[in-house]
Amino acid sequence: MLVAVLLAACDSGSSPTAVQSTVKPGSADQLALGRYLTKAADCAACHTSATGAAFAGGVELASPFGKFYGSNITPDKEHGIGKWSADQFYRALHDGVTPDRHLYPAMPYTSYRSMTRADSDAIYAYLMQQKPVAVPSKEADLKFPYNMRFGMMFWNVPFLKNSLSDASVGQSASWQRGQYLSNALGHCAECHTPRGAFGQLDLSKPLGGAALGRVAAPNITPAGLAAVGWNAADLQTFFATGIAPQGSAYGEMFPVVHLSTQYLNKDDLAALSTYLLGDKPLPPEPVKTITADTTELDAGKRLYTAVCAGCHGFQGDGKPHVAVAMKGNSTVRNADPHNLIVAMLDGIEAQKFPGTESLQDMPGFAGQLSDKELAQLSNFLRATWGGQPASITPDQVKALRLTTAH
Ligand code: HEC
Ligand code: HEC
Ligand code: HEC
Repeated sequence: MLVAVLLAACDSGSSPTAVQSTVKPGSADQLALGRYLTKAADCAACHTSATGAAFAGGVELASPFGKFYGSNITPDKEHGIGKWSADQFYRALHDGVTPDRHLYPAMPYTSYRSMTRADSDAIYAYLMQQKPVAVPSKEADLKFPYNMRFGMMFWNVPFLKNSLSDASVGQSASWQRGQYLSNALGHCAECHTPRGAFGQLDLSKPLGGAALGRVAAPNITPAGLAAVGWNAADLQTFFATGIAPQGSAYGEMFPVVHLSTQYLNKDDLAALSTYLLGDKPLPPEPVKTITADTTELDAGKRLYTAVCAGCHGFQGDGKPHVAVAMKGNSTVRNADPHNLIVAMLDGIEAQKFPGTESLQDMPGFAGQLSDKELAQLSNFLRATWGGQPASITPDQVKALRLTTAH
């Protein structure tokens, strides 16, 4: 699976768009490029369902406005995009407008708008080579007034911008390529940038972190990444393998690595980390020493030793092929305890990482541990290995329980 991607042959050290302009329409090179870009842009995440055929749609996307469904984008003439021209395809990615409707921004055209025409054409050529699948697309199931598609015309006027704002500073060729990979193809902002009341990206806080479903998307600005110990090499390992000294990809980040970033070539992995950290990265911060109430910490340590240490290690070092380290883990170091508490309550289902690595599931402890115990555990982990104050209260845990069994 990890065979060197075809693009490795191209010189991606040159300007970000120059790579594609040499590719001939209809050539094998264009198809290979289209395949690579379709992965980098993660079209499958929303257009290939767990049970359906590739790109045949049906993936359910929940939102505060109701449910959206990724459409059938196979070349089927009736149910897919088989009758579309390359111009019409580009318009869908660039403007969110199809031959017969305005798309909702659950389709991330707010990000794909920055995609080059050549890249759109390559993706189009690749998709047109896929097997047509005669499955109708599901219509979005939205609450009033969001179910009125024409409303999107008015949404697009203030909110559809030609480019997204940058969280980092840079101008190197690698930074520019990374900007394109992050903002246009990888649409990282769609999850990591907070949203306003109309579901629009809040461009004053690019990549500043956002509430999603259960697992929140952390702050991945240069300052946010440095604060929890990330550097360029570890970020590249994380995007290529899903596991780094700072932890594993889970929640909605797991499919991003699984379906998309693991396929990026070396130059693109480097470019992505350069863009996130900027041309002059901040030094990763060491874990601060925290003083806290010893009774609280002792209680947390006893619980950790009894229920967590078997997998995560008594010293929090983790165990190879069993579980990630807690010492210096970015989830433990995050000032916001949301993801730490949710991981303990819900657990994480077994995940298959690139290559041969796969981790068993982490059990959820919602049924086994009380709010007080989970708060003690959070405080022990934060103060011992996260450099964060032991300030978590049982009420904070209670608020995040899916059920109120305890
Ligand atoms: C985050 C989820 C998401 C991703 C990623 C995504 N899409 Fe979509 N896409 C959607 C949704 C949802 C719809 C339907 C929107 C609606 O109902 O208005 C859609 C609709 C479309 C349509 C319109 C189809 C039709 O019949 O009207 C096209 C074309 C399309 N997507 C292509 C792509 C391509 C190509 C990619 C990758 C470059 C991609 N999408 C990535 C969610 C996504
Ligand atoms: C049976 C083994 C097992 C036990 C017991 C266990 N975990 Fe985990 N834990 C894992 C695995 C495996 C992962 C990574 C899962 C993945 O990403 O696929 C994980 C992930 C996590 C994460 C998310 C961080 C990251 O980078 O993935 C946190 C936080 C965590 N565990 C805390 C705890 C705490 C606290 C306890 C005790 C209450 C605990 N775990 C008990 C196996 C375990
Ligand atoms: C579908 C939503 C989604 C998209 C798209 C997405 N992320 Fe994430 N990301 C998350 C969530 C949720 C987490 C928290 C869980 C974890 O740490 O794995 C996360 C975690 C991360 C982390 C670890 C941060 C930390 O401190 O632990 C990095 C780095 C990251 N994402 C970078 C990216 C980049 C770069 C992209 C675009 C290529 C991207 N993400 C796209 C949802 C998303």
